[in-house]
Amino acid sequence: MPDEPLVLGIETSCDETGVGIVRGHTLLADAVASSVDEHARYGGVVPEVASRAHLEAMVPTIQRALKEAGVAAGDLDAVAVTAGPGLAGALLVGVSAAKAYAYALGKPLYGVNHLASHICVDQLEHGALPEPTMALLVSGGHSSLLLAPDITGDVRPLGATIDDAAGEAFDKVARVLGLGFPGGPAIDRHARDGDPAAIAFPRGLTGGRDPLYDFSFSGLKTAVARWVEARRRDGQDVPVADVAASFQEAVVDVLTRKALRACKDNGVDHLMIGGGVAANSRLRALALERCEGAGIRLRVPRPGLCTDNGAMVAALGAEMVARGRPSSTFDLPADSSLPVTEVSVPGHTHTHTHAHSHAHEAGEGNLYG
Ligand code: KG4
Ligand code: ZN
Repeated sequence: MPDEPLVLGIETSCDETGVGIVRGHTLLADAVASSVDEHARYGGVVPEVASRAHLEAMVPTIQRALKEAGVAAGDLDAVAVTAGPGLAGALLVGVSAAKAYAYALGKPLYGVNHLASHICVDQLEHGALPEPTMALLVSGGHSSLLLAPDITGDVRPLGATIDDAAGEAFDKVARVLGLGFPGGPAIDRHARDGDPAAIAFPRGLTGGRDPLYDFSFSGLKTAVARWVEARRRDGQDVPVADVAASFQEAVVDVLTRKALRACKDNGVDHLMIGGGVAANSRLRALALERCEGAGIRLRVPRPGLCTDNGAMVAALGAEMVARGRPSSTFDLPADSSLPVTEVSVPGHTHTHTHAHSHAHEAGEGNLYG
């Protein structure tokens, strides 16, 4: 289709400088520069280091994306950017760059929500998202169950973590096991040689009186740390593969159980999983097994599209353009605690229709820990 919108998307909410270019649902370029190695020795993302890295990577990454897509900047129909949530200084670099490009090119600017982008990216892999979409978003910064009747304007939080994000738990447990940062991929790898039933770690918030769709991983993380410490105190070897497999099983068991419950309760017959933890091989396998058993269709983008990237922002921007959604004004702010319900940010000069206080009711308490 020649009239599908050609959109460039910029993502800088955490430690990845992502620039993607899409035409409608077609991915043309996905350039990512990561500063993850610079954070490794601190065991977590250092905001100032991330901002500086974004600044250095921004223009080269945009140029790389344009080259990869084989398009000229002047051909773009719009520029989209993550307006939040995320690290304030990091977001600011992306928002400033997006404004500069959009203004210089005379193209509309779309400030969009990072979480909605994580959902929308699946259109690049599996085509148009069914509506409503049920989404489980799990990464180092967020763990949410979202119901999206309209990915460009109506995203509703059903539940979220009340403490650590799922990826954060992977990272912290990996540190306890001495596996380095980021921990998710290392645990995934070690778990393959381990027994997921070796140690019965707790499943947070799965009791009869617990909230149905909220998550808690902090108790699990502590249980793993205590178990490992006790072994070391006794002078025994720590069976890293078994600990990794048993911990991983506890996380993905709860994630999939709650996600399926949300689908059933809301009459949604498909589930999309996104965010960095969606790259986890056991999560993908168990989700597939449980979805097949329940007659639910599973949509998980390939791992490269699950972690933070610019293509997801471009995908949501293109959907906004295609549906005639209003663009943002050039006084668009970066909003580090942008609520998930605000799919796009109109800018200061538009009248605000949503109140910011909704975010905290939704229990999205640990967006970037
Ligand atoms: O979405 P993402 O790239 O960045 C944000 O946090 O927004 O997600 C990164 C997180 C890290 O916590 C990392 O450990 C986790 O995703 N992760 C994984 C795997 N690959 C990345 N967790 C479990 N298994 C994996 N294979
Ligand atoms: Zn993310």
